[in-house]
Amino acid sequence: MRAIVISANGGPEVLEYVERPDPEPGEGEVVVDVAASGVNYIDVYHRSGAYPLELPRTIGSEGAGVVSAVGAGVRDVAVGDTVAWASVLGSYAEKAVVPAGRVVPVPEGVSAELAAAVMLQGMTAHYLTHSTYAVREGDDVLVHAAAGGMGQLLTQLAKLRGANVYGTVSTPEKEKLAREAGADEVLRYDDFAEALSGRMHVVYDGVGATTFDGGLKALRPRGLMALYGAASGPVPPLDPQVLSQNGSLFLTRPTLVHHIAEREELLQRASDLFEWIRTGRLRVNVSARYPLAEAARAHEDLTSRRTTGKLLLIP
Ligand SMILES: NC(=O)c1ccc[n+]([C@@H]2O[C@H](COP(=O)([O-])OP(=O)(O)OC[C@H]3O[C@@H](n4cnc5c(N)ncnc54)[C@H](OP(=O)(O)O)[C@@H]3O)[C@@H](O)[C@H]2O)c1
Repeated sequence: MRAIVISANGGPEVLEYVERPDPEPGEGEVVVDVAASGVNYIDVYHRSGAYPLELPRTIGSEGAGVVSAVGAGVRDVAVGDTVAWASVLGSYAEKAVVPAGRVVPVPEGVSAELAAAVMLQGMTAHYLTHSTYAVREGDDVLVHAAAGGMGQLLTQLAKLRGANVYGTVSTPEKEKLAREAGADEVLRYDDFAEALSGRMHVVYDGVGATTFDGGLKALRPRGLMALYGAASGPVPPLDPQVLSQNGSLFLTRPTLVHHIAEREELLQRASDLFEWIRTGRLRVNVSARYPLAEAARAHEDLTSRRTTGKLLLIP
């Protein structure tokens, strides 16, 4: 099989398209013929070394496809099942080995491609809007990078829960996409803090360094800052007093793995997403598909701010 392997950390050029032996499932594992794998910022962090991995390694943290082999002790998954997963490494490949306890069944009416597109960012948007801060009817919610992969999903889920959604974007084209996702008001990064000053119940910030301080200003007293990413770079160390000065704010830095660690929680979040897709309440905007061999181009596009919505690699 073919796979994208990194043997050293660095830029997109370290993503090598190589031949690998077909994998065999170990005990409790399944092998999946990958229909699509999602491209995510975490793949960039694995590639660059910001999140260190033992090398060489096949990267990629999200995918979907059809099970082609099951290992000993696997009972709930069978050859021929269409399944999807997130937060398991090795999906930038024609075949992926995934623990059976980490795959979810993909229902009729949801394609493997859409399932691959929604697992990681979708379940993240789910826990952010349902668990980290359970958005309520009438809440004022700020979503940074509202035209991005996370941003379009967060905007839609916050709207489903009845919020007023404010989004930030960098260009008029992205503004249009944020509005199509449901944002009520779309702002630019240089004036959102002043425009929203002290009004937001929650800020969802995956941009980080350049937006964090403004987000604290945009929050109302006792509002919550969910800093879930760092597309513009990490937020520097912080004096907790800042939270008091800006109105007794709450700050959290959540991550997906802690919200799908229990199998029941994984299944619930994934099945909610699939149901919303099947019933037309959630639109997953797959904006670009790249052949697996061109993973480097996908990474370049994602980090240079050229993309919107979801990027997929197709083996
Ligand atoms: N914590 C978790 O559980 C979790 C899970 C999934 C993703 N994430 C995080 O979510 C964030 C978004 O991920 P995504 O895959 O959906 O990406 P994305 O939002 O599609 O792409 C990043 C966007 O951030 C904006 N941005 C602002 N300043 C930027 C800069 N200096 N460099 C690059 N982009 C900049 C850009 O939109 P504009 O041009 O409109 O500004 C860009 O399109 C990432 O930080 C990722 O790590 C976290």
